[in-house]
Order: sequence, then C-alpha cells, then structure tokens
Amino acid sequence: MTYEVTVEPTGDVIEVEEGQTILDAALRQGVWLPFACGHGTCGTCKVQVVEGDADLGNASPFALMDVERDEGKVLACCAIPESDLVIEADIDVDPDFEGYSVEDFTARVITIVDLSPTIKGITLKLDHPITFQAGQYINLEIPGVQGSRAFSIANSPSDPSIVELHVRLVPGGAATTWLHETLKEGDELSLSGPYGQFFVRKSDVKDVIFIAGGSGLSSPQSMILDLLEQGDTRQIYLFQGARNVAELYNRELLTELADKHSHFHYIPALNAPTAEDQWQGFTGYVHEAAIDHFDGKFAGHKAYLCGPPPMIDSAISALMQGRVFEADIHMEKFLTAA
Ligand code: FES
Repeated sequence: MTYEVTVEPTGDVIEVEEGQTILDAALRQGVWLPFACGHGTCGTCKVQVVEGDADLGNASPFALMDVERDEGKVLACCAIPESDLVIEADIDVDPDFEGYSVEDFTARVITIVDLSPTIKGITLKLDHPITFQAGQYINLEIPGVQGSRAFSIANSPSDPSIVELHVRLVPGGAATTWLHETLKEGDELSLSGPYGQFFVRKSDVKDVIFIAGGSGLSSPQSMILDLLEQGDTRQIYLFQGARNVAELYNRELLTELADKHSHFHYIPALNAPTAEDQWQGFTGYVHEAAIDHFDGKFAGHKAYLCGPPPMIDSAISALMQGRVFEADIHMEKFLTAA
C-alpha cells in the first residue's frame, strides 16, 4: 500500500510506502524538505497538512505543541500518512543545492587508522556509488545501537565508491565506542545518504573561510578537496583548531595542499600546546586565529563552520563583528554523534 503526498507550494508528488515517514520518502525521491534532528525533537521539519490524515508518530510535545496538532501540523520526520495527503512546507531551496536522492548502501570497512588519540579515520567501500555534494553527511547504522548516527563525509565526491569518516570517541557514547573498539577492517555496515545542506555555494564567488574544530574537519576537508580538484580559483582559508599537536590531525595532508595550491591557505591553531609540541604556530582558539589573520575584518567572505557548539558560537560572533552577513555564514547543524 502506498500513499501519494503532494508537497505545496512546489507541487512535487511523492509516493510514501506503508509505515514510511513523509521525510524519508521525500529525501529518497529527491524532494527536499527542511529538517535537522530527524527524530521528532527539533521541530525544523514541521509542515501543515492541508488534506488527508497522518499518524503523528513520535513527535515530541515540545517540537509539536497541542495547539499545532489541533491546527493540523505534523513533523515530516515522524508523520506516517494514513491517506493521500496534501502538505504545505516552508521550502526555501538554495539554488546551489543539487538535491541528490537518499539511498541505502552496504559498506565494507577497508581501513581504520588513528588520526589522533581520540579520532579514527574509517574508510568504507560502498556496494554502489554514492552521489553527494562535498560537505554532506551519511547516517550510519551501528549494530546493537538504536537509531542511526550522522557522520560527515571527509573525502571528495570524485571517488563515489568510497566514504571516509572521522569518528571522535565520545566518552560513554555507545556508537562511537563501538566504532573505536569493536569495528574491524573487513566488517560490513549499513548506511544511508547523502543528507544535509552544508555545501559550498559555488555560484557565489566570494573567497571562503573554513573554521573547523575537533572531528569537524571532515566536511571542510571534503569541500576543500572538491574545490581544488574542480580548479576553483577563489582564495580558500582553512583555520583548524585543536588542543595540541597530537589532536591536530591530517596536518600533513593540508600542509601539502597549501604548498601545492597558492590560493589555499592553511592556518592551524592550538589552544593548549604541550611543551614537547614546540609549537611555533598560532596559540589560542581557532576563531582567534581567524581574527588575527584578517585583523578582525572579514567583509566580502563566505564562511563555513564545523565543530563543537562553543567554537561555532565564538566564530559566528567574530565573523559578524568583522562584517560578514548572516546569510554568508553556513554551519553543520546535526547533533554530535555519541
Ligand atoms: Fe527535527 Fe523533524 S523534528 S527534523
């Protein structure tokens, strides 16, 4: 049994299988609807049902209030149609969004490497190619762990048979502990993707600033590799923050890229270097490195931020004080995988 859901104002029609959510069906059919958490807690995917009935699923009472339920609103990530539907969504699709359909994949682990004491690089070979925009993410199923976990793709889209992930061990986190301690090369995993609205707005030719902290280097790495491979000539700045040299991973790769491409500038920053580090680079937080480099004046740039929430907040305030418009600041919004 399938139901037809018409999405207004675009008029897109999607087929929704029995038991499938509206959001899942839409993403798999290349129809973009706004969403963030994917499991009923943030309210980003709220849509108005204009015609027909839907089961509300696990919508949290905070994300979908009683009065909104009475008005016929549903959360697309939880709502399951019980008839054909017409829904109205607040769709503001970025012109640079390529809207590749979400698919399921089986993947074999080809390498697991220690990138830092807390971050592993896991490279997966997919059973069929994935088409994605650099900066997007996948949802990974972890055996014995309920729900999937989101991880950004760190490689460039130019090799669609491979997905490289940077997985930071979150103390007490069941999924990342399993990935760090149990997963072995040769194992098989299931994943779906691509997801996300974090990608370089290529039609806007402003120079770009990437600010990355922790395992948040993954999506900027993919975006930078893609820009360089495509021969993009804008100035590209990457500020990478870490505590100390051991945590500053992929430094060699990034330094080599900067040596090879005069328009790519790599600026690492350490906020707690050890004596053995003999650190000669910038000492301080990563947003401070950006302020230092640009003398606090960022006008005319686009910025892409990926990292822990305090880093993102500090970077946003530095950029806005330095006259970057809010519309020119993009960040990855998914919750840190635990
Ligand atoms: Fe967060 Fe649906 S409630 S995406």
